Amino acid sequence: MADLWQEAMDHAVALAKKAGEIVRDALQNEMKIMCKSSSVDLVTKTDQKVEQLIIDSVKEKFPNHGFIGEESVAAGQPCLLTDDPTWIVDPVDGTTNFVHGYPFVAVCIGFAVNKMLEFGVVYSCIEDKMYTARRGKGAFCNGDPLQVSDQKEINQSIIATEFGSSRDPEVVDKIFSNMRKILCLPVHGIRGSGSAAVNMCLVAAGCVEAYYEVGIHCWDVAAAAVIVAEAGGVLVDLEEPEPMMMPWRLASASWRGSRPQSLRSSSSWVSSGPPLP
Ligand code: IPD
Repeated sequence: MADLWQEAMDHAVALAKKAGEIVRDALQNEMKIMCKSSSVDLVTKTDQKVEQLIIDSVKEKFPNHGFIGEESVAAGQPCLLTDDPTWIVDPVDGTTNFVHGYPFVAVCIGFAVNKMLEFGVVYSCIEDKMYTARRGKGAFCNGDPLQVSDQKEINQSIIATEFGSSRDPEVVDKIFSNMRKILCLPVHGIRGSGSAAVNMCLVAAGCVEAYYEVGIHCWDVAAAAVIVAEAGGVLVDLEEPEPMMMPWRLASASWRGSRPQSLRSSSSWVSSGPPLP
């Protein structure tokens, strides 16, 4: 059967490379930094420029495709997933890292058809690591195949998470309380790169056993979700019924064995582990 979406995926990889160049160039110049929901929820002109580049290019090449992008939604566009081919984009995942020159910044392009993710491209552009995956065809980093860790014991694992952008003391307390429970299991360590997509790619690469975060958005995870699933991992959404459109409560955990049929799987030791807020 003809490979319907390969052209779109090749285009996504080319766009991610171009976007990565823009991000790297911007690091050399003074940045215009703005705040969104709070003083620690940042956006820059580069986020907007990269998203516009991707939208314009997709519209020109695939005029019938839909688009969901972090900055477009922030500017008032609907965050609506239909059955149409839809590009789900985070132009700069790890904006705070980008602002500080902390080297984990990813351009994320996910692609869904009939509400099913077909491919994901995550370009960690300062590290120059291009993570790619197509449904049913495996996951790769710079062309090398990825496989999640085969560690089965949580007390021999590294867990990745993030602190989010709320500084509400109650929310922060919950985050620390969850981390405390996990640390005391005990685990080997807790890590966070500052980019949800990079954390998930590290799960796919087998460097960390699991990543969890509460209150995440579809553009943070859509692309990397395919990469985790194709590397043999599972994704657990703790909230039903529209996982891709909610701010995701997401845990992606390594799980060797048969690949999940869909990106919604509920069987994981993370989901039965310490309660998330
Ligand atoms: C954020 C990063 C961060 C995660 C946040 C995301 P952004 O994405 O991935 O690590 O903790 O939940 O929103 O805003 O830099 O694109």
